[in-house]
Amino acid sequence: MTARARGIVEVMRTEGPRFAALPPLALYVHIPWCLKKCPYCDFNSHEARGEVPEALYVDALIADLELALPSIWGRKVVSVFIGGGTPSLFSAAAIDRLLAAIRARVPLVPDAEVTLEANPGTFERAKFAGFFGAGVNRLSLGIQSFDARQLRILGRVHDADEARRAAEAALMIFGNVNFDLMYALPEQTVAEAEADVAAALAFAAPHLSFYQLTLEPNTLFHRYPPPLPDDEAAADIEAVVHARLMAAGYRHYETSAHAHPGRECRHNRNYWQFGDYLGIGAGAHSKLSFADRIVRQVRHKQPKHYLEAVGRGTPLVEDAIVAREDVGFEFMLNALRLTDGVPAALFAERTGYPLTLVQRELAKAEALGLIERDPARIRPTELGRRFLNDLQALFLREPEAVE
Ligand SMILES: C[S@@+](CC[C@H](N)C(=O)[O-])C[C@H]1O[C@@H](n2cnc3c(N)ncnc32)[C@H](O)[C@@H]1O
Ligand code: SF4
Repeated sequence: MTARARGIVEVMRTEGPRFAALPPLALYVHIPWCLKKCPYCDFNSHEARGEVPEALYVDALIADLELALPSIWGRKVVSVFIGGGTPSLFSAAAIDRLLAAIRARVPLVPDAEVTLEANPGTFERAKFAGFFGAGVNRLSLGIQSFDARQLRILGRVHDADEARRAAEAALMIFGNVNFDLMYALPEQTVAEAEADVAAALAFAAPHLSFYQLTLEPNTLFHRYPPPLPDDEAAADIEAVVHARLMAAGYRHYETSAHAHPGRECRHNRNYWQFGDYLGIGAGAHSKLSFADRIVRQVRHKQPKHYLEAVGRGTPLVEDAIVAREDVGFEFMLNALRLTDGVPAALFAERTGYPLTLVQRELAKAEALGLIERDPARIRPTELGRRFLNDLQALFLREPEAVE
């Protein structure tokens, strides 16, 4: 190849994305404390041990947002998600101050979804009403199970009665409610799982997230594994859970998410459709698009370090451009979680690259029966959903050689 031709190829390879319009932008706010660390949890959550410095932390979140404003200048925010940890540890007044500060600094779309994660163990009816008054219009309640024995094994601070009372109050005050539940719990039988789903279905919450309990590295359960159902038993439990949810009118619209029609979580759907998000707070991740690049950012993880770093005006520990060879995998990692997949045109819209970037991988996935493709849509097949990790891995690329 001539030097000139090689030059042209290299320019083409290193060319960044080109966006006709930037993706929708969501805001994530991380609150990193819990009453007690659950033995299965690897989220960035830390045991509160006494008073949580909520006023200081809200000040830091506001300062963090202000530092980030130049990177989202002029953009509207479509949803806010206050997650954790246990955001419901914070007082309603603190959440009110936080949301007022957000509204004063970034334009929220008029009907923006504003979700807050709450734990039944931190529940008081008056607090939920206060969150609602502060502008939270969707509550995600970490129930995990309605089975008293399982709640003890999972090390939860709430019991089954508290779970029920919190569920009732959440539905009465917010209406728009998600329950987080887990299945394939220690020694769980199909009948027990069925009873747990039935207990959840009795509330007719518009959204239910069902996660298979997994043993995550750096957790107590990883070090001292409880007797979990084997793969076959877990698959039987999953089949029953999904069948019960479908029979009750829920659509299994994403790997772990089930919703009544029209009640899908808009904030999470934005992640799955490769939208943009600014994450503020300890350990929060962001993915932001600019006219010529996509960047990923990560903030200091330890609350103490985060507070100090925001004080210095430097909350980021990572700030990197997403390489062209990683974009296809990152898009598919999210999009293929959706039961209906995504319109084919969304790839170019959200990545800034033509769909031909992943042509080879799409053809392979189709040949293996893992995706269905018509000109307008990319959708995982049932087989693809069952072997989602393998399907996603097809889009992983080795860094491109320059030659
Ligand atoms: C960020 S957590 C926090 C929500 C809230 N703090 C709580 O625990 O009630 C979100 C959800 O992830 C799920 N989760 C956490 N660790 C898990 C694990 N090891 N396996 C499966 N699901 C898990 C739980 O259902 C949890 O409610
Ligand atoms: S309450 Fe939620 S975030 Fe906190 S440790 Fe337990 S599962 Fe993790």
